[in-house]
Amino acid sequence: MLQTKAGAATVPAIPPEEVAVRIRGVTKHFGTGDQRVVALRGVDWEIAKGQISLIVGPSGCGKTTLLSVVAGILDADDGDVEIFGSHVSKMRDRERTKFRARSIGFVFQQYNLLPALTAAENASIPLVIAGLPKEKAVARAREVLGLLGMEKKTENLPSQLSGGQQQRVAIARALVHEPSLLVCDEPTAALDHETGLNVMELLRQVAVRPDRAVVIVTHDNRVFHFGDRIAHMDDGRIVEVEDKPNEAADRSARSPLGTIHS
Ligand SMILES: Nc1ncnc2c1ncn2[C@@H]1O[C@H](COP(=O)(O)OP(=O)(O)OP(=O)(O)O)[C@@H](O)[C@H]1O
Ligand SMILES: [Mg+2]
Repeated sequence: MLQTKAGAATVPAIPPEEVAVRIRGVTKHFGTGDQRVVALRGVDWEIAKGQISLIVGPSGCGKTTLLSVVAGILDADDGDVEIFGSHVSKMRDRERTKFRARSIGFVFQQYNLLPALTAAENASIPLVIAGLPKEKAVARAREVLGLLGMEKKTENLPSQLSGGQQQRVAIARALVHEPSLLVCDEPTAALDHETGLNVMELLRQVAVRPDRAVVIVTHDNRVFHFGDRIAHMDDGRIVEVEDKPNEAADRSARSPLGTIHS
């Protein structure tokens, strides 16, 4: 089913009790004067519990900005973000930082690993912030890295890892504290076919619980197959939401190109 409203935001019909994240009228600009860029022009969107929601759209349309606002990394200029019943946009800084640390996992497009820490130490950061003793946190991080096929690389520094391995450390760091909301910016971009599928299987397992939700920005057709909904973004707005795209995804996953280019 395709829900389209040309040129305007579209609100998918998710029953209120099934909504994990509700975004209303979110706007965001960067810079001033000649340098002013409006990245988000009033985003309305709902993310369902127990699902993987995808965001697709051309480069520069505002995907990373939207994820960053949802994850509380960037402040919106205006609008409201509600995550599992908490209005994060209305929280004070300290309260929001705590909420973010406890409830949200973020896989950044550029990984953002700390160069002086090993893979396991990097992946353990959310647990250390949550107050777990370092040894326990690192032990748990090793387990999660093992699930991602990284058991032999846990003591390596990021500079001693390939791009795909660094990406898996970033994914382990986002998963390690079992957040309610997992937000991923191109999580499979640097991964080979099999590793990409393994990561998506893992994210699928994370998402299926009713007290969880996963949001993924992607250009990767392998990821489409795992999506429950696809939000299409253009020029700072969500312009269309595609529901239950799995059949279409099956077809496009068999495309010889392997990835879509938007
Ligand atoms: N920190 C910033 N300062 C100034 N402009 C920014 C900043 N971050 C993003 N922008 C601008 O905001 C717009 C949206 O950027 P964003 O990174 O959200 O796009 P995107 O959809 O994630 O693109 P891509 O697919 O290339 O990652 C772009 O025009 C970008 O140049
Ligand atoms: Mg981006």
